[in-house]
Amino acid sequence: MSRLLKFNIFRYNPEDEQSTPHMQEFVLEETDAMTLFIALNRIREEQDPSLQFDFCCRAGICGSCGMVINGRPGLACHTKTKDLPGEITLLPLPVFKLVGDLSVDTGTWFREMYTKTESWIHTNKVFDPTALEERMDNKDAVAIYELERCVECGCCISACGTARLREDFMGAAALNRVARFLIDPRDQRTERDYYEIIGNDMGIFGCMGLLACEDVCPKHLPLQNQLGFLRRKMGITSLKRIFKK
Ligand code: SF4
Ligand code: SF4
Ligand code: FES
Repeated sequence: MSRLLKFNIFRYNPEDEQSTPHMQEFVLEETDAMTLFIALNRIREEQDPSLQFDFCCRAGICGSCGMVINGRPGLACHTKTKDLPGEITLLPLPVFKLVGDLSVDTGTWFREMYTKTESWIHTNKVFDPTALEERMDNKDAVAIYELERCVECGCCISACGTARLREDFMGAAALNRVARFLIDPRDQRTERDYYEIIGNDMGIFGCMGLLACEDVCPKHLPLQNQLGFLRRKMGITSLKRIFKK
């Protein structure tokens, strides 16, 4: 016999003056291969059309369905109800601006952080649209591709103690993005240029290294390696600055 699942879902609409933050209970019969994405859609279709949550791809690609699932940030479309107990509590991701219920605005946060970290190739070369594409060493291309797999879901930011305490902290996603450009041979920035951006408490030196970010990343990005890589690079750059080398 299938289980009856009890959902405790955070409800609040900041646009509605009458609305106050509260938890609302819904009960739903579990079906085969049910994901939280399917469950939330059924609740919205059958029980409450006002329930707000985000989704787009249903395949762990768009990164829009991040939420706190029984205390742990994760993707709703990637979470099967059979892996959860019969009582499921869903909250919106903290750190990001709440749109309503389980929906948050991750886009503004990522845009601000990518602007702050200057997330684009810096080069003095003049672009020639008629030139052949430059070849890149396969090892570099694979390493860059690995870090490009981030879907900007925000789970690592919501799980991060420093990001919860300090709203300017770049978090693992933005630092991962910096590492991506640091290893890109087309980017002509020096390590000192990167130090100006992340060599402070809002960047790599604010990271406490407890790695909740890597624990919750649904794409299994090697965040621990990247944070260690940046810490070593920026630590050495810091010493060079002190000794003016
Ligand atoms: S290791 Fe650093 S970035 Fe990752 S969760 Fe901890 S403080 Fe945040
Ligand atoms: S690093 Fe992982 S958890 Fe963080 S935003 Fe990217 S995909 Fe999501
Ligand atoms: S709906 Fe796109 S990642 Fe879940």
